[in-house]
Amino acid sequence: MKTLATKTMILILGLVCTSAVNVPTFAQSKSSVWDGVYSEEQAKRGVTVYQEACAACHGVDLRGDSNSPSLIGVSFMFLWEDRSLGELLTKIQTEMPPANPDSLPNESYVDILAYVMQVNSFPAGEDELVPGKYHQILITGKP
Ligand code: HEC
Repeated sequence: MKTLATKTMILILGLVCTSAVNVPTFAQSKSSVWDGVYSEEQAKRGVTVYQEACAACHGVDLRGDSNSPSLIGVSFMFLWEDRSLGELLTKIQTEMPPANPDSLPNESYVDILAYVMQVNSFPAGEDELVPGKYHQILITGKP
């Protein structure tokens, strides 16, 4: 004969399982770099900071040199496709410039990111790229 405790356990388990099934599956609203996620103005600010802090190694045209990787085109996409802007920003902010990472204001890193996107021909939009959204924005090939 089943004890009350066992019956209660079965009841609870039943409830847990039912509720687990009913948990709504959130379709995360992912966007991509093709959705106009930064502004022209922001990219313009990024040019200045980029030229000062990054161009010595990655080149004025972002194509890099024999020591520093290109930040545009096929080789860039090979590494960054299907990763998020957040990941790219973290990489830049925590590792660049190599001798002095995280040495620029947060905002300047985001401006540089906007500039890098512009040079990669990702379209600008109305709004600036703002914190909290980067991780939902994927770097993808042209849709
Ligand atoms: C002293 C030279 C130097 C400077 C200055 C420099 N970088 Fe770099 N950067 C490198 C080297 C070398 C690598 C490759 C090694 C690595 O990934 O850590 C690299 C890697 C990167 C990567 C990863 C590229 C990839 O596809 O793997 C990004 C993005 C980047 N740099 C952006 C920047 C930005 C933005 C700035 C300016 C804030 C900057 N770098 C300043 C030398 C430099």
